[in-house]
Amino acid sequence: MDRTMVTELNRILADYTVLYQKLRGYHWRVSGPAFFQLHEKFGELYEDAAAKADELAERILALGGEPLYTLRDALAQARLTEDGATAEAAGMVQALVDDYRTLGSHLRAAASSAAAAGDTATMNLLEGFADGQEKTAWMLSAWLAQRPAPVAA
Ligand SMILES: [Fe+2]
Repeated sequence: MDRTMVTELNRILADYTVLYQKLRGYHWRVSGPAFFQLHEKFGELYEDAAAKADELAERILALGGEPLYTLRDALAQARLTEDGATAEAAGMVQALVDDYRTLGSHLRAAASSAAAAGDTATMNLLEGFADGQEKTAWMLSAWLAQRPAPVAA
């Protein structure tokens, strides 16, 4: 078993576990003029994060490793952070742009490790995820850019 690869995959699984719960919170707490749009988008994104977490965990198992599953382990190993404070829609979207960019770079780095280890299946999985997350980061940043300027009081 490639322990280094399993460790790297578990850290990404931890990131997705934190991201999933963060997106759930944003889905519940978002408000304002973009409520319907963002409530739905955050729901779509947490379902996608859950599906990716499942694929990562099953890849870890296929490699003979053990996927983390407790919230304690996820919080200890994740590089993404929880957010119990942001209340404004644009702040949530900006935090997610940062998170998806961070994830994208961790996914590319882990894909390089997989390539170096000759593990093409893991490399392909991670590259596919990275493509998707970079696109999500771009879409969310485009949403931020198209917002009208705040009306002066
Ligand atoms: Fe819901």
